Amino acid sequence: MIVAKDIETVRKTVRQYHEKNESIAIVTTMGNLHTGHITLVKEAEKLADHTVATVFVNPLQFNNKNDLKTYPRTPDADLKKLEDAGVDMVFMPTPEIMYPEGMDVQTTVNVPHLSEILEGAMRPGHFRGVATVVLKLFNIVTPDYCMFGQKDYQQVALLKKMIRDLSVPVEMHVVPTVRMESGLAFSSRNGLLTEDELKIAPHLYETISSMKKEIEGGRRDFAELIKEGTAKLNSFGFKTDAIDIVNADTLEGPDDSTKKLVILAEAYLGKPRLIDNIEVNI
Ligand code: PAJ
Repeated sequence: MIVAKDIETVRKTVRQYHEKNESIAIVTTMGNLHTGHITLVKEAEKLADHTVATVFVNPLQFNNKNDLKTYPRTPDADLKKLEDAGVDMVFMPTPEIMYPEGMDVQTTVNVPHLSEILEGAMRPGHFRGVATVVLKLFNIVTPDYCMFGQKDYQQVALLKKMIRDLSVPVEMHVVPTVRMESGLAFSSRNGLLTEDELKIAPHLYETISSMKKEIEGGRRDFAELIKEGTAKLNSFGFKTDAIDIVNADTLEGPDDSTKKLVILAEAYLGKPRLIDNIEVNI
């Protein structure tokens, strides 16, 4: 496995892949890798001749300095997991390599509207940072395929639009959320939970799953349903940031013609802010 710390090494290696007409899939991550990330890697390996993983805690997408500071970093363990998973190359840059002139003067990618609603309204600048780093990583790695997890639902919608709007020559594959037996979605932020909080955390998925059942059973009073879901989460010890029920394709409020919904939930549990979602066909 090649471990590239600079852009030139990545370019040199992918040039060799392209010369042999071999395809590349990219798995972009912020490290502290878990089963969710490795599932993306395994899916990438099924698709392409070469899998390139990136590990970069992207400061441009953190709107909260403390969140950036406490984000778990485990580079040695990450490299071992990626090597075991059969990745061909890892790109592990520093912020100086990615943003040599500083973040204040960095050219950025703005995906209008989708970056401002829901999670974007709560985390100003977050999605601009995500779109910018992902396009930059695409330009460095020049992949044929990119893999993203459904766990970050709005991120997927935003990046799909960016790829369309900017005619980026990459095919996106979305991987369903990988969960523990308890239902809790694998997340790097789970590592910030105490033992007691870890026992409470599965209630996030359980709560949105039971909301899904209610909708499937015919309930359409979404505002009331959200109120009940929020109260339930808070009674378990979460501090709920938001629960939204929106059209799964547009992330807008549903109307009579909507066929597929997504329930999006974001809640603090102790230190970390956990997110999850579930789709509902109606
Ligand atoms: P990160 O949170 O490290 O996630 C990297 C990728 O793994 C994303 O596509 C995410 O959706 C996926 N992922 C995380 N947990 C998952 C799970 N339980 N099941 C399935 N997929 C999962 O998302 C980011 O990093 C960053 O925003 C990034 C795209 C790398 C840009 O910096």
